[in-house]
Amino acid sequence: MSLNESPGMKAFDFDAIQNGNYALGIDHEKVTRETDAVMAQMSLAQKMNEIRGSQPKPIDGLFYAGGDESLGLAPWKMVDGPRGARAGTATAFPVAIARAASFDADLERRVGLAIGREVAARGGNVLLAPTINLLRHPGWGRAQETYSEDPYHTGVMGLAFVCGAQNHVLTSPKHFALNNLENTRFELSAEIDVRSLNEVYLPHFKRCVVEGGAASVMSAYNKVNGVFCGEQPLLLDEILRGDWGFRGFVESDWFLGTRSTAPSLNAGMDIEMPAAFRYADDKLEDALAAGEITEEVIHRSARRSIYQKIAWQLTADSVAGKPRPDPKVVECKEHVALAREAAEKSIVLLKNEADGLQLAAGVGLSIAVVGDLADFENLGDRGSSMVQPTFVSRPLQAIESAAGGATVEYFDSHVDLSRLAEFDVAIVVAGLTYEDEGEFIPTAQAEVEDSSFAKGGDRARLELPLPQRDLIERAIASAKRVVVVLQGGSAIVVRDWVDRVDGLLMAWYGGQEGGFALARVLFGEVSPSGRLPVSIPRDMDQLMPWDVSSLVIEHDLLPGYRWLDQHQQEVEFPFGFGLGYTTFEIQNLGTTRADDKLLCQVDVRNTGLRRGATVVQLYVSCRDSRVFRVEKELKGFGRVELEAGEVISLEFEVRDADLRFYDAGAGGWELEECRYDFRIGQSSGDLPLTAQWQYRNAQWRQG
Ligand code: BGC
Repeated sequence: MSLNESPGMKAFDFDAIQNGNYALGIDHEKVTRETDAVMAQMSLAQKMNEIRGSQPKPIDGLFYAGGDESLGLAPWKMVDGPRGARAGTATAFPVAIARAASFDADLERRVGLAIGREVAARGGNVLLAPTINLLRHPGWGRAQETYSEDPYHTGVMGLAFVCGAQNHVLTSPKHFALNNLENTRFELSAEIDVRSLNEVYLPHFKRCVVEGGAASVMSAYNKVNGVFCGEQPLLLDEILRGDWGFRGFVESDWFLGTRSTAPSLNAGMDIEMPAAFRYADDKLEDALAAGEITEEVIHRSARRSIYQKIAWQLTADSVAGKPRPDPKVVECKEHVALAREAAEKSIVLLKNEADGLQLAAGVGLSIAVVGDLADFENLGDRGSSMVQPTFVSRPLQAIESAAGGATVEYFDSHVDLSRLAEFDVAIVVAGLTYEDEGEFIPTAQAEVEDSSFAKGGDRARLELPLPQRDLIERAIASAKRVVVVLQGGSAIVVRDWVDRVDGLLMAWYGGQEGGFALARVLFGEVSPSGRLPVSIPRDMDQLMPWDVSSLVIEHDLLPGYRWLDQHQQEVEFPFGFGLGYTTFEIQNLGTTRADDKLLCQVDVRNTGLRRGATVVQLYVSCRDSRVFRVEKELKGFGRVELEAGEVISLEFEVRDADLRFYDAGAGGWELEECRYDFRIGQSSGDLPLTAQWQYRNAQWRQG
């Protein structure tokens, strides 16, 4: 098949994503010279000071580290986190997994840009984000902070965030690595083989570092193969610096993130956060005296920090050569509008019986809004990723104001719902809160930081809590039509009631504009276009075993849909799935080779009656490999928004590098000679178009 005539819209525009990323323009030769000159003036004591945080408690949201006025070195001022600046008030964006559901890399770049700008405006210079731990199991308490169960998807979104934010501040992708169970995070060991590590659990970190120039990385609390991540040479030295050429610094995760003095420093964990404990003067001096460390390792870690300070032209009040932005940028109109756009694009329509949605606003309609969560500011987790905006839209008020004269009545979770039959439709807002899932903050840390103590932690089960299920059942029993809006940060099992509701939307934790976004989707101002970044099983038993008290967990090549494919499980809603108020057809797949890539083009047509968007997804299956291969892997996606009847040509580039497997025996990547199927469609469960290519005798040919 020949390629379509028109130049395609790119599914992923790498140049546009990199735009303005300060790290990518650094003159490393110059910085090396200048760093050497500064290092030459430094005493051992000054170097020791450079490799640790300054105090356990943040000041106005800023965690300080290093810095020396006499040398003209400003301190690091680190700020959380993945859904907005945790320093004073800030724009609360939808949580990362919600933004991931947009499958819109440019949107994520712009969100990173806005968060970076707000962090800089609050005086920060390092953004402790993005969280890019792969969602190994949807029960992970911090699922909402990360992007997805797929490494390619996580890599694209993480890269986009890093590139956007690094217009203003350094980023710190975290937690390196395999931090994907919360309750036992301070003790557990993630066991993994070298192939799964490189192919599944690290590629997204690699993208952020190699393609995004992430200037720092935060190590994880947990162990990997029995060794704490903050002292794990395989991760910090061999892979991060050796294989990827990382030039930044590694800081520890916070309390209990640095477990030792010598093993940590020797492995390359550069900066102890949030304060001196293992890297306190006496500990360092003892370790030197005992010959466990050398002055050289202190010098090395201090140098990595100072290298980035010079590279980023850091001063007390500027970073990346830019003066601190006016605090007015915080929650400015533009950022709030972006939070709205992200929330709108994140909402996933999972069920729409008889096309009952969109609702026609106006006097003819009566709506019952049901459930306490409809009148609650449900921003998600209250751990380190918590953000405090000045205003949060709630579903109830947003529906009322968008209803255009329709009757809207509110029923909280505790009242009798038998009157629901009087209304045309009942919108039940159900789901989870920070009490059900989130970061688990130990009491000691909560006290030090004055953060409100959150229950959080992992979810042992994926169903809704009983009172929420009971609410849905009571609504089903009385109402003519029930639309359930789910809030939460990951997969929720809906099997016991989903067949008896008319509509189902996954609204995540939608940030401060989430209520307005929901109302706009319900009334058809926008067609929902979110797609699931996590498979929703019918039953938890379809997934890999999950025990939230595990102290050892095995990792392999099969998280998420890889596992489900392998075990031939029919899920409730597959990875990448989502409906809209219009329909799309994908046709005319054409493929050709260009250098070390395969170019795939398809025509995408809006076949419905209104404007809307879809996400075209490309998966690759390797058919006759000599090693185990999973059934398919996502290798490209592009979000396309079209008017009714409009058609556009969409172009994917699949790099040969992305087709390789990691040959543990040979200790490297191999592009294997075999048949590759390039499969395109609108979800992992719906891939109607396939192009076959063979790679034989180092040549590619179609067929
Ligand atoms: C979390 C990190 C966070 C840090 C600082 C830790 O407990 O794991 O993600 O950046 O606290 O707040």
